[in-house]
Amino acid sequence: MEPNFRALRKEFPLLERKTYLNSGSYCALANDVKRAFEAYMEDRLLVGANWDVWVGKNESVRALTAALLHAAADEIAVTASVSAGLNALASALDFSGPRNKVVVSDFEFPTNAQIWHAQEPRGARVVHVPRAADGYIPLENFAKAIDERTQLVAVTHVCFRNGAKLDIAGIVRLARAKGAMVLLDCYQAVGSMDIDVKALDVDFAAGGMLKYLLGTAGIGFLYVRDSFARSLVPTNSGWFAQAEIAAMDITANRPAPNARRFEAGTPAVVNCYAAEAGLKFLLAVGTPAIEKRNYALTRRCMQRLEEIGWPSVTPTEDERRGATVAVPSRHSRGLAAELMKRDIVTSHRDDNIRASFHFYNDDDDVERFIEAMNALRASFGPR
Ligand SMILES: Cc1ncc(COP(=O)(O)O)c(C=O)c1O
Repeated sequence: MEPNFRALRKEFPLLERKTYLNSGSYCALANDVKRAFEAYMEDRLLVGANWDVWVGKNESVRALTAALLHAAADEIAVTASVSAGLNALASALDFSGPRNKVVVSDFEFPTNAQIWHAQEPRGARVVHVPRAADGYIPLENFAKAIDERTQLVAVTHVCFRNGAKLDIAGIVRLARAKGAMVLLDCYQAVGSMDIDVKALDVDFAAGGMLKYLLGTAGIGFLYVRDSFARSLVPTNSGWFAQAEIAAMDITANRPAPNARRFEAGTPAVVNCYAAEAGLKFLLAVGTPAIEKRNYALTRRCMQRLEEIGWPSVTPTEDERRGATVAVPSRHSRGLAAELMKRDIVTSHRDDNIRASFHFYNDDDDVERFIEAMNALRASFGPR
């Protein structure tokens, strides 16, 4: 049975005041998540420090993230950010031999290129896969870049600039054929669609809780395939990455026998409360139903943009896009500001504004957006 999206919408008070199309930057706050923040404050006021509860919240986030990705809890590191997870992973890789190449795409969020460029003094060679004339990155372009010298293919699932979704299964096949590992930056996808890291067969996946996962900033995850979670040894470490956290042993580094070895220090406790509530809410709605709804909303939005003569630059095929519709503008910052004056919240990147949809949006949101865009087209249309 389809979830009652109309009722769920009421759990996000912001939506009474704003047409909120900005979940690709930061989600709307759910009542449950607000209550979780409050519960943290209550616990601090009434109990003070409650170590067992705090560690329990971190473990709960780990278990819920595992359920979300169809992975095992032992394969999940709870991190402070995508960047923190990627740095821990990079620290475990050896670029001194002939397999020193890291392949990234033109669609990457900066952090998933900068961190690999930061490994250049350690021997890494970073190769960028370019987009084709139509703006998409076809598999042929990855095939040209991935070779026997490739150690890692580090790619985004959905591009933060234009909402295009890459053919991850195809990229994994190319990587496997050359013996390379694959890291998926799924931050712009996770929570907006169903992601099965086992079906995709990626080795690593990183994301965070503040966008489609309904949580907050300052907490994320790194999925590490079981075999690598036991064999890779990060040199970015800390006491929470140890096999026995309570051992307090200062004589050696003894990494946990699972993905926890990619963690570092004390968890961001208040963020764990919020992330737990967000993940529980999202899992109760169900990612397959959310995915279906988001495709329907983005499809409708793109059709309506065509009708008003201001087409988006996001691919029209469902298998090539996520939950963001990017619309070109000659002054994207000004357009986002004008929309904001009309209580329509979007974001802008480069020459596009981004309208990101989540299950709590509806067709009326699409219409309000289209009506405003129609009125603003003469001043803010594409170059
Ligand atoms: C695709 C993608 N990757 C990574 C990041 C940044 O992650 P973090 O700030 O958690 O390092 C973002 C943030 O917007 C993103 O959209």
